[in-house]
Amino acid sequence: MVASSKLPAPAAIGRLAAVQEMARLLRLLFEVEREFVRTATTLIYRVGEPELKYLLCQHVWESAGHARFLRERGRELSGFGNGDGVRDSIRALFNEAVMPVDGAVALAGFYRVLKPALLAAYAHYLRVTDHLADWPSKKLVEEFIADEQRHAREIANFLPTAASVSGWSTHLAAALTDLGGWLGNSPHVPLPSDFTWEHTRRAYAHPPTCNRGKYPTCSSVFSFDPTETPIVRPWLVDPKTDPRVIRIMVYVWLMMEMDAVDYLATIFYDTPEAAFDLHHDLARHLWDESRHSQFGFRQLPKLGVDLMTVEHSLDLYNILVQMPPHERYAMMTMEFEAGSFPTKALVMDRVRELNDFEADTLLAFDRNDEQNHVRYGHRWLPEIMALCGETRPVEEFVKATREKFQEYAATYGGKTPHDLGPETRLTGEKILRLAGVA
Ligand SMILES: [Fe+2]
Ligand SMILES: [Fe+2]
Repeated sequence: MVASSKLPAPAAIGRLAAVQEMARLLRLLFEVEREFVRTATTLIYRVGEPELKYLLCQHVWESAGHARFLRERGRELSGFGNGDGVRDSIRALFNEAVMPVDGAVALAGFYRVLKPALLAAYAHYLRVTDHLADWPSKKLVEEFIADEQRHAREIANFLPTAASVSGWSTHLAAALTDLGGWLGNSPHVPLPSDFTWEHTRRAYAHPPTCNRGKYPTCSSVFSFDPTETPIVRPWLVDPKTDPRVIRIMVYVWLMMEMDAVDYLATIFYDTPEAAFDLHHDLARHLWDESRHSQFGFRQLPKLGVDLMTVEHSLDLYNILVQMPPHERYAMMTMEFEAGSFPTKALVMDRVRELNDFEADTLLAFDRNDEQNHVRYGHRWLPEIMALCGETRPVEEFVKATREKFQEYAATYGGKTPHDLGPETRLTGEKILRLAGVA
């Protein structure tokens, strides 16, 4: 072999061989965790149960945290490598994992094949590293093992029966066994001769609408008509509106941040070359929105609202999924979030009249999170634009995107009819009764 002048001399490699071997494994683990974040997000809008969407957002955020700490520790070690890139062999497996048309089948592949293999990889790391010399990595890996075990427990009730998805799980497991597991330490079994990669045969596409399971749906929960929707725009800002009515309306508004969960989740897969820090902050943003939605989902029943009467609005997902990822992100951060502060401020002041400490707390944290989201937007929109080949100045692009959204709303919006009749669904008028003011 010809020695390159850029490589360390063989003796120097030998001296740090033990470190470099562990750095190599940490690098693989980092790449697996960040690819999980990029691709498991495609499950979120495909599964219907809100509790499962919330859980996936939490797991994605925790995985982003694992990746972040693995990279931080890895960079302390010789041989971890520069950059955030993912090798093709790992990427191929995650690109494959998104392919089932049925979200439940895809979910089972991630959680019955890919995640258990990740847990096994962490356990292997702990077995082969020196617990004193590599103590900083050991502490992290012990924590990640506990997280992975908890993820497996938390998801168990949401997984389809093993028998119903065994074909896909076997397929995915074969691809993983060919690699020898995530760390390549298990016996390699070559792929069967009739194995075909699904992701090379057809392209993955986000579904044109998002799944809300058993819950009723509609186009929008906002209108000017109290017999039509639960949120009546003028009531939110009318000083004569009873604060108990405003409280229920704002919880419906928060619960509907589920649409932000669903459309934000589409951006990860669409930006495979993004820096990890971008996906890390998107994962945080996603988890925040899932908590905001939970504020409404958990509080509304306490105020007498039957969640089966609350229609879920699908317009924002349906419109935005027709637009490319940088336009989705621009609308979210520069329009919807940046534009929500004045009305939310008024609403918060009105709710405070109720001396409802819990409501005040939830709204305060929502506001704080939203301020961070707008900051993320300023930080990352130019980067997502660059990834998508957009060269116009940010302001010009945002203005044009707003106009495009209006056109797309006319074409793709308003297409989801009310699932429930006006006598059954939650409307402004019914909120007056629930709040005890009519
Ligand atoms: Fe939010
Ligand atoms: Fe937000």
